[in-house]
Amino acid sequence: MSLRFCNSHSLYHLLLVLVIFCSISAIYAKANEDATIRTMEAFSGYPIHESNSFVTNLASSLSVDTETLQKRIDELSTFSDTPAPSVTRVLYTENDVLARSYIKNLMGLSGLSVREDAVGNIFGRWIGNEAVLAPVATGSHIDAIPYSGKYDGVVGVLGAIEAINVLKRSGFKPRRSLEVIMFTSEEPTRYGISCLGSRLLAGIESLAKDLTSTVDGQNISFLDAARSAGYAKEHNDLSSVFLKKGSYSAFVELHIEQGPILEEEGTSIGIVTAIAAPASIKVDFEGNGGHAGAVLMPNRNDAGLAASELALAVEKHVLESGSIDTVGTVGILELHPGAINSIPSKSHLEIDTRDIDEKRRNSVIEKIRQSAIIIAKNRGVTLSEFKIVNQDPPALSEKSIIEAVEAASKELNLTHKLMISRAYHDSLFMARVSPMGMIFIPCFKGYSHKPEEYASGHDMENGVKVLALTLAKLSLQ
Ligand code: GLV
Ligand code: MN
Ligand code: MN
Repeated sequence: MSLRFCNSHSLYHLLLVLVIFCSISAIYAKANEDATIRTMEAFSGYPIHESNSFVTNLASSLSVDTETLQKRIDELSTFSDTPAPSVTRVLYTENDVLARSYIKNLMGLSGLSVREDAVGNIFGRWIGNEAVLAPVATGSHIDAIPYSGKYDGVVGVLGAIEAINVLKRSGFKPRRSLEVIMFTSEEPTRYGISCLGSRLLAGIESLAKDLTSTVDGQNISFLDAARSAGYAKEHNDLSSVFLKKGSYSAFVELHIEQGPILEEEGTSIGIVTAIAAPASIKVDFEGNGGHAGAVLMPNRNDAGLAASELALAVEKHVLESGSIDTVGTVGILELHPGAINSIPSKSHLEIDTRDIDEKRRNSVIEKIRQSAIIIAKNRGVTLSEFKIVNQDPPALSEKSIIEAVEAASKELNLTHKLMISRAYHDSLFMARVSPMGMIFIPCFKGYSHKPEEYASGHDMENGVKVLALTLAKLSLQ
């Protein structure tokens, strides 16, 4: 027994000595490291290695000015072609131009250096301590489809500017520059092309070429509209907009979820792992038209009924896919001449279809095409156009960015979950030139693309904090 006591006693002493030795070595190493850092800082003129400990402490010192953020969201919503609470802000219109000035002014107030490209993508940069490194970017859009709400995209632009303010107030100094981007025309409203600005940034040559001859519903060319807003001045070549791969080390977009999951589950932050694959199609039918009273039913070639039948076929093919993830919408259906007593001689449909599975979505598109051909034949009308405007693949978020957002959420003690984005975003195209990630916040009942769209101040505050901390982490990497 005494021998056992003696042994455990000496073991205790040995352990004690070891602990003391390790602590002294650690203090020594730390002192050495501190001295090295001080020397490096004296030479370089800026803080070295603020990284991990600084960023960990950063989480507790982030303070969001939610009141100002909300005030700015409300102010921006007044640049609208339709009355509140709806918002309609269409590319290169007077209200779009006013809203752009508003954003540039805020970027300036935050001390960002502002530039614009030939189509009006707006960039505000906070120059980092190592300005030669590829910057970290964030941002979204401020255009709004007809009769929509004031949070879609806007939270990712005004929230990004606020995230920069938050970091500045906290005393953080970025290593890589941080850049806020306001993308031109994420919505396809005017020229039928979604994510126009980010598609061009991603270097899609065919789009740059097509845009030189694209017109809107009023026959106003893209280039004329861009010029009236102060862009595309120099020449018709839009390839100056293309970004080189590697222009950014990371891109992170903050956005409302536009779906009900986060709110229903009471989860604060959604971390996007993938963005569903969207496609859009334009279809035209042409029939004979005629008098609504005089032409008997067997003698009609009604382009309107062909369109109606195709709209129902879209629903049928989507439902037949067997997956809840396949969706299809006929959002535009126009009849010509549009008189109650005239059989439609022309009809025009625009079809949006999406899926997280690209192959399944493509097979739906093919079935819609076959239906259009059969309907035209059966009704004696001409299928004068079946044009796939875009048929984009899905995009995957970068693992390292998912991890950075996850770490930020954890440090901020916010509940979070991985999820896919069913809506598309500029991130879909930024993923082609940069590692990409997205942060979702809850929105009221998942409403979006309608005036009832709403995100609470508290949820926006959480989103801005997670964005700020993620940007800080990525900037130091
Ligand atoms: C974006 O607005 C979308 O339609 O997903
Ligand atoms: Mn939208
Ligand atoms: Mn959006």
